[in-house]
Amino acid sequence: MSASRRTILQAVLAGLGAPALSGRAWAAPGGEALPVPPLLDADAAGITTLTAIETNHRFVGGRASPTRGFDQPFLGPVLRLRRGSTARIDVRNRLDEVLTVHWHGLHVPGDVDGGPHQEIAPGGRWSVALEIEQHASTAWYHSHVHGRTGPHVNAGLAGLLIIDDPAAAGLPSRWGVDDLPLIMQDRRLGRDGRLVYANSGPALMTDFRGDFMLVNGAHRPLARVPSALVRLRLLNGCNARTLELRFEDGRPMQQIASDAGLFAAPVARTSLTLASGERAEVLVDFAAGGRSTRLLSAADRNSQMGRMIGGGMGGMMGMIDPPAVAANGAFEVLGFELDATLPAGLRTLPDRIVGAAPLPDFGEAVRRRRFVLDGHMGMMGGGMGGMGRGMGRGMGGMAGSGMMGGMSINGRAFEMHRIDERVRRGDTEIWQVVTSDMAHPFHVHGTAFQVLSRNGRRLPFAELGWKDTLLVDGEAELLLRFAHRASERTPYMFHCHILEHEDAGMMGQFTVA
Ligand code: C2O
Ligand code: CU
Ligand code: CU
Repeated sequence: MSASRRTILQAVLAGLGAPALSGRAWAAPGGEALPVPPLLDADAAGITTLTAIETNHRFVGGRASPTRGFDQPFLGPVLRLRRGSTARIDVRNRLDEVLTVHWHGLHVPGDVDGGPHQEIAPGGRWSVALEIEQHASTAWYHSHVHGRTGPHVNAGLAGLLIIDDPAAAGLPSRWGVDDLPLIMQDRRLGRDGRLVYANSGPALMTDFRGDFMLVNGAHRPLARVPSALVRLRLLNGCNARTLELRFEDGRPMQQIASDAGLFAAPVARTSLTLASGERAEVLVDFAAGGRSTRLLSAADRNSQMGRMIGGGMGGMMGMIDPPAVAANGAFEVLGFELDATLPAGLRTLPDRIVGAAPLPDFGEAVRRRRFVLDGHMGMMGGGMGGMGRGMGRGMGGMAGSGMMGGMSINGRAFEMHRIDERVRRGDTEIWQVVTSDMAHPFHVHGTAFQVLSRNGRRLPFAELGWKDTLLVDGEAELLLRFAHRASERTPYMFHCHILEHEDAGMMGQFTVA
């Protein structure tokens, strides 16, 4: 934006008063043990049931908050699927509104994908058989009702999925000991301890950020770890926030997997960026270094407001960062502490990973498609006057995409009854994704892709691996191919994984025939 507009905005903001990061008496530092969601094997033997329920959960003190989850008050069990077997899953809806369950990262046909067309009525049931043919990876599931995905995930309708491959071996795999799921989600909690999700007002003008970072539903918990290499399965389950993770003491994370499969060899990183919907698996050595450390994230500047004027307006508009515990706006995600009584497993970093997802031979692409993601707000159109009108609309709480001032892909907001693209099964294609206003995590259902380039720079496959969600800040080229069908009745989706953008229309749908 221009310098003059920035000055105008700053002037407007100054008039709104100083941002307040209010201290909450009961928001004591963490210390609660990291909750580890139960593993539920869904690999051939019988039918696995997932029941969506609405109940209460106490997050950080105060009162219990109304929450939603699968079989438990907040989030759901970790479903373990097995490559080469069929998972039969029954989803039951005990909520008072429709939901869907999308298997984010599963390469399954459209009719079992769980997108917005597969609504499960209150009291209803949805039964699917999922044939698992893909490589070992960490995926997740969440509700995907059009216009309601943000509030559903915020309330807890999500969980992790693990795809096990009998051919993958040699990595830490003792659940809750040296194989730890970390579902990271920022949430807003009111003074009374209840989850807050604004369905009107400024919080929805761009994207929803919380001021408490939860891991598996706990605020700044503490994980006890053995003196060995520990595998962390990281999911950015935030609605909008991009996490930039690093350890307080600078210890390296050896990345062994991204969204859709294991790497051929570990890649050492001191920081790891994950946008909403992205996953990574890392090995961290707790035998070296101090007895305790913390995983931190940098403040997230990736919002329209943040891009315009830095963090200040974000704070004022209710998109504040969690209570800061380190310098430079970084905040704590969770702590780790050595526990010598835990059995140590893997001690040396493998130099090759058995069961890695290889780069298949896609051959020449036969088609190119272009997707322009645009989240420009109408309110920014006309300087002061435009802004005034925009804020008036936003604060007035009008629902629907109109208020958002145009969340779109290729100039169009999502329509349940319009198919945007038609893809031929088995064809190799290049999808070019373009963003302009801010970085958007672009997600594709039904397959995984290779990232060819980002902003003109080639990206080595060994560093990124197979992805199904990619933070695009400018331009990226993806190489992909679909193995399964998706009909007009149950098409696949492509969308921004900032859930408020998706809900407001930054999504499209396609068939594969
Ligand atoms: Cu995780 Cu279409 O979403
Ligand atoms: Cu998905
Ligand atoms: Cu977006």
